[in-house]
Amino acid sequence: MSTSGKLAGKVAVVTGSAAGIGRASCMLFAKEGASVAAVDCNTDGNATLVEEIRSFGGSVEALTADVSSAQDVEHAVHQILSKWRRIDILFNNAGIVPGKKVHTLTEEEWDRAFAINVKSMFLFSRAIVPSFLQQGGGVILNTSSTTALRVAPDRALYTATKGAILSLTKSMAIDYATDNIRVNCLCPGTTDTPSLRARLSAGGNTEEMTKKFIARQPLRRLGTAEEMAQAALYLVSDAAAFVTGSAFQIDGGMSL
Ligand SMILES: NC(=O)c1ccc[n+]([C@@H]2O[C@H](COP(=O)([O-])OP(=O)(O)OC[C@H]3O[C@@H](n4cnc5c(N)ncnc54)[C@H](O)[C@@H]3O)[C@@H](O)[C@H]2O)c1
Repeated sequence: MSTSGKLAGKVAVVTGSAAGIGRASCMLFAKEGASVAAVDCNTDGNATLVEEIRSFGGSVEALTADVSSAQDVEHAVHQILSKWRRIDILFNNAGIVPGKKVHTLTEEEWDRAFAINVKSMFLFSRAIVPSFLQQGGGVILNTSSTTALRVAPDRALYTATKGAILSLTKSMAIDYATDNIRVNCLCPGTTDTPSLRARLSAGGNTEEMTKKFIARQPLRRLGTAEEMAQAALYLVSDAAAFVTGSAFQIDGGMSL
């Protein structure tokens, strides 16, 4: 376990670690001295992450899990606690971005989005908060979205999940404030990640879609996963010791 860096000596669980914002956060947290438990259903993506982190001497373990499965989550948390004996930071970041208007959605699509985006946060929190209570504190960061604050067309289901995350975050922040457990959410704007690239190319005209997305941003560019990771680092570190229940917007001004 590293003794230098903003997260020295901390154990951080990051979900959605194999790509995008989660991956960049794992890299940064490890560089800042954390031992990182990288949780994702994409085993191959996690394997390259582990290789990269270990190449600079970082501490990381990969765990393959479907974050919407109670059994997978409990098994993963058990493995993490068996290895490191504690958890200090939970970054609930895994998520999917379903499109469509409500009348075209299936019940399965609705349930799957809520299971991956919201229920996963309940499952991980339920499994980890008892350790936080026992050790006298901890930090939870949930990835919501700018769309929780400023809606976009054809994103009703996605927006509903991200709004739920905002409410869950605030409720948990109140519930655990006197237990020294801080709970915040990150609200990224349009960020250049594999999932965004897939959405940009879905309609067959990537260039036009990219221009359209950039035009929504007052700062006239997309965010980067590394910028989101820097915001996440602040929120999970002791620098944010007085921050709880907040929705931290990092969106190039998109929510203005
Ligand atoms: N990229 C953006 O523009 C943007 C904007 C706002 C919010 N967000 C949110 O940020 C988070 C990360 O998004 P991203 O753009 O980095 O996405 P991404 O698709 O690039 O990465 C998401 C990761 O989550 C994993 N994942 C998905 N479902 C899973 C499951 N059931 N179990 C385990 N792992 C699972 C994927 O394998 C992938 O590695 C999401 O919650 C997303 O809603 C992204």
